[in-house]
Amino acid sequence: MKMLREQIQESVDAIRKSISTEPSVGIILGTGLGTLKEIIQSEVIIPYQDIPYFPDDSLHGGEFIIGELSGKKVLALSGRFHYYEGFTLQQVTFPVRVAKAMGVKTLIISNAAGGMNPLFKAGDLMIITDHINLMGDNPLIGPNDDTLGPRFPDMSEPYSKDLIQLAEQTALDLKIPIYKGVYVGVAGPCLETRAEYRFLRAIGADAVGMSTVPEVIVAVHSGLKVLGFSAITDECFPEALQPANIEHIIATAQKIEPKLRSLVKEIILRLE
Ligand code: HPA
Repeated sequence: MKMLREQIQESVDAIRKSISTEPSVGIILGTGLGTLKEIIQSEVIIPYQDIPYFPDDSLHGGEFIIGELSGKKVLALSGRFHYYEGFTLQQVTFPVRVAKAMGVKTLIISNAAGGMNPLFKAGDLMIITDHINLMGDNPLIGPNDDTLGPRFPDMSEPYSKDLIQLAEQTALDLKIPIYKGVYVGVAGPCLETRAEYRFLRAIGADAVGMSTVPEVIVAVHSGLKVLGFSAITDECFPEALQPANIEHIIATAQKIEPKLRSLVKEIILRLE
């Protein structure tokens, strides 16, 4: 099998056949940001299947989009791979490696999450200030390629303090209420038991979800600056837990989208 570095280079070479510009901002269009795609002036859209080494994506119809948003060159990843679908964390995070190799410096990422902080309500937004990896796996396990990043990456500031401050100020200016908090990433696909929510809250998490952590680990390993958001789609209070209603969760995510979309659009405008 080819080395990771060679796989990344082949993907980049294939993408560069279609475009010449270098994107500076990468955006993973997770829940809450899906419709951001509609306001990107796209230059090229490449189906994931056409990019070498991207995981088999017949399920999602994922697209690699390069274009312009708020006057910046952006690379948007529409369609995301999850650990619970059976992909390895190396597969889940491969698009982040390619984004870095394409020239991206800042990565914006979003997810749907269950709110465990008792102040949170379904429909709220949270800026991720830190995370806890409880997936039971790590995308960096295995031989380390020092040209991609360090063996033991520092995790004292996985989410850029400057970007958190920018997001907070922008939300304030746009009058979009927003919380800050810690995201815990779990493997899924089960939602949590009451005892698990009690535990996750006790160890310091405000929101829980099944994505983001692997991508952020690889982003930090690659030297990217990260800004993350959780769309709080349901309330996970152990003493008042209602059965999860997936239709309701999706409907709540859709309600949050316009808020997060305007926020991210303005943040990109304000990026250096
Ligand atoms: N757990 C609970 N609620 C959720 C999750 C999760 O992983 N994701 C979105 N809502």
